[in-house]
Amino acid sequence: MSMQIAHNISLKKFNSFGIDAIARNYASFNSVQSLTELIEDHHAQILQSHFILGGGSNILFTKPLLNEFVLKNEIKGIQLIREDDEQFFVEVAAGENWHQFVLHCIQNGWAGVENLSLIPGNVGASPIQNIGAYGVEVRDVIESVQAYHIAEKTLHHFSFTDCAFGYRESSFKSKWKNQFVITKVVFRLNKKPVYKTNYGAIENELEKMGITNLSIQSISDAVINIRSSKLPDPTVIGNAGSFFKNPAISKEQFEALKNQHPQIIGFQNQNGTMKVAAGWLIEKAGWKGYRLGDAGCHALQALVLVNYGKANGSEILELSEKIIHSVQDQFGILLEKEVNIL
Ligand code: FAD
Ligand code: EPU
Repeated sequence: MSMQIAHNISLKKFNSFGIDAIARNYASFNSVQSLTELIEDHHAQILQSHFILGGGSNILFTKPLLNEFVLKNEIKGIQLIREDDEQFFVEVAAGENWHQFVLHCIQNGWAGVENLSLIPGNVGASPIQNIGAYGVEVRDVIESVQAYHIAEKTLHHFSFTDCAFGYRESSFKSKWKNQFVITKVVFRLNKKPVYKTNYGAIENELEKMGITNLSIQSISDAVINIRSSKLPDPTVIGNAGSFFKNPAISKEQFEALKNQHPQIIGFQNQNGTMKVAAGWLIEKAGWKGYRLGDAGCHALQALVLVNYGKANGSEILELSEKIIHSVQDQFGILLEKEVNIL
């Protein structure tokens, strides 16, 4: 068990945008006990201002110097804690890499997360925005979440219902923002897989791969192929995935827009609103492939903003604001950022 404190260190390697921000105070911890000690020792300072860092793949640092005390979660461990006829219950520490966990599940025949292959970041961040891709959201497999309350210095257990998951939303991202450090997540994984191949390109990809016998492995491989073909690899071009959420608008507004733009892409939400493909709106507004200095809008996926090398966070943020204004002007839709801005 250990805790490591450092001062004035660069976070460039700790964020997928590759932004060079300096943290005045930085501490990593690899157990709940070392987290507790860290918070005991620096309580006043941490309470004043802090930032919890996981894999840094959904964050944009806009200031060259961070006054927030950066708390880097490195708690490790994956454990099968119980099983019944249908499911495995698996407890995973927050600092485990998400995709490595998915691969571990596939190797063990634990089904349910294969569609979420290749999402960067850590397990501890997965409930924060209820990560999702290819027809699955992490809420579909979460049983409970354990988290440490920084102000009260207490450990809490949250049920699925407490988390109030929504599209890229949870209690941790809204009403409890910054209050808790998630320490572990318990997942419910299926013994008998329920294959979800109806989303977009999965079926085409499986056919292209010549797959006739479905398995969680083949679905994972298909998802990896699709993602690799359009999402930039952060180790090559800095990015944080989708910069904006896909907006929800009323059916009436959608129909009116469809009259003007027959190609507009939308899907019906359960509550009757329409989810519009923000990538399409941004592309249509002319931003796809745009670049100013080293800040850009990805040429293969307009929803992804990129850092070609030396952009700073405020340049990326400025570009995002221009895109928001332009989409608002042309379509009357206000895009909301998905990425956390610091
Ligand atoms: P960080 O970026 O480190 O943190 C994100 C937020 O969570 C911050 O507010 C941070 O304070 C908070 N946080 C992190 N860990 C903890 C913790 N233990 N306790 C409390 N708060 C914490 N997302 C999707 O949903 N679907 C996708 O398909 C997807 N594709 C992506 C593709 C690429 C190429 C990239 C770069 C990103 C993509 N993302 C996607 C976004 C990102 O992978 C997820 O949001 C991921 O969950 C972030 O994890 P992280 O550990 O890197 O979090
Ligand atoms: N589209 C365009 N132009 C573009 C980009 C997309 O017209 O430049 C169209 C596509 O042709 C498609 C539709 O928009 O018809 C949707 O595109 P895609 O399937 O690529 O998905 P997305 O809506 O852009 C969402 C998530 C991703 C997730 C994928 C796959 C959000 C904000 N993003 O992207 O999540 O991986 O679906 O399920 O919901 C993330 O959150 O960081 C992320 C990458």
